[in-house]
Amino acid sequence: MRSNMRITILLWITGFITVCAQSQTGSKAFLSNIDKTLDFAVKQEIKMAKSVKDKPGKFPVTLDKKGDLVLCDTTSWTCGFFPGTLWYLYEYSKNDEIKKYARLYSDRLEGMQYTTNTHDIGFIIYCSYGNGYRLTGDTGYRTKIEKAAEALCVRFNPVTGCIKSWDRGEGIYPVIIDNMMNLELLFEASKLTGNNKFREVAITHANTTLKNHFRDDASCYHVVFYDPKTGDVVARKTRQGFADESAWSRGQAWALYGYVLCYRETKDPVYLRQAQKIAGFILNHPRLPEDKVPYWDFDDTKIPNTERDASAGAIISSALIELSQYVPEAEAKKYLEIAKIQIESLSSPAYLAQDASNKNFLLRHSVGSMPDNIEVDVPLSYADYYYLEAMIRYRKLISGVSLF
Ligand code: GLY
Repeated sequence: MRSNMRITILLWITGFITVCAQSQTGSKAFLSNIDKTLDFAVKQEIKMAKSVKDKPGKFPVTLDKKGDLVLCDTTSWTCGFFPGTLWYLYEYSKNDEIKKYARLYSDRLEGMQYTTNTHDIGFIIYCSYGNGYRLTGDTGYRTKIEKAAEALCVRFNPVTGCIKSWDRGEGIYPVIIDNMMNLELLFEASKLTGNNKFREVAITHANTTLKNHFRDDASCYHVVFYDPKTGDVVARKTRQGFADESAWSRGQAWALYGYVLCYRETKDPVYLRQAQKIAGFILNHPRLPEDKVPYWDFDDTKIPNTERDASAGAIISSALIELSQYVPEAEAKKYLEIAKIQIESLSSPAYLAQDASNKNFLLRHSVGSMPDNIEVDVPLSYADYYYLEAMIRYRKLISGVSLF
């Protein structure tokens, strides 16, 4: 071999080793930062759990305009997130105190397994008892997952081919994109019971939503109204977005996460393609900021002078990490890079509260409902839940542990 060729090969090998070493060091540093944040989260959430433990039936959800803690009860769609947060932190820390509180707050949801008046039962039961069952194998939790799936199916109408969201008004049948998240409960219950009905309802809902909720650019509407007698689409509107034709950020996040989970459970390539298209819409959007934490709606005409939604950033991050497991390497790398930027942004002082002002919530700067002027630029229990989920997922990836 000629000597200049030898030198070229040597340089290439040295370069390759340096890049690998740098990326390993980068991963190690990122992992160590995630661990520091999770250690901090354990301390914060124990303080939060203590502060609400003597308020039976209550769960922390946000702060009010004066900065005081707002609690909810089981009438709120958000009630399962705090128990779920504690289960994730137990998974990470194996801390018995966290486990004790995870059980205590999960027990507060006891009666919810029979609730048929909300589609949000998937969020409520799966984030709490779903994680609890996954981590403990407690058969009491398993029963609740099964019963709640039965309850959710009561809201399914074979004519519309989807699960009804809100119970408001006669003759209209609203279905919100958020409802995709409740399918996880049905898939799990199907596996636990062997009852295929739950899975079929989930798949039918996903297919109907895919047909009717999306625009040509893969962004989605918030609410589709159906005629329950014919199954026809009557209207497409928003409730929490900037406008009927806008892309409400958390809605896009729910859509992405929803189709990723449908692909996980069915391996149907149609769902994977949909998830990729939604990811493409979000990640290529000209108004997605540098730190990859979206404004509350991609189409707010006041951008950049409007609020971010950290909850949407956290949900997207978690979904991208899972999506990276199902796609070719180059595409996976892109999703993981964005998810990492999102975790880094959310873990920076711009979002992560390191002082007492956030009353033990982790993230600042989420938006519940801008049109209602409710929960604007505040911490939210579900932002923290998905932020922790994203970090725990990334941690598993780096450590070579399977996500599920
Ligand atoms: N499911 C209600 C929301 O995302 O705000």
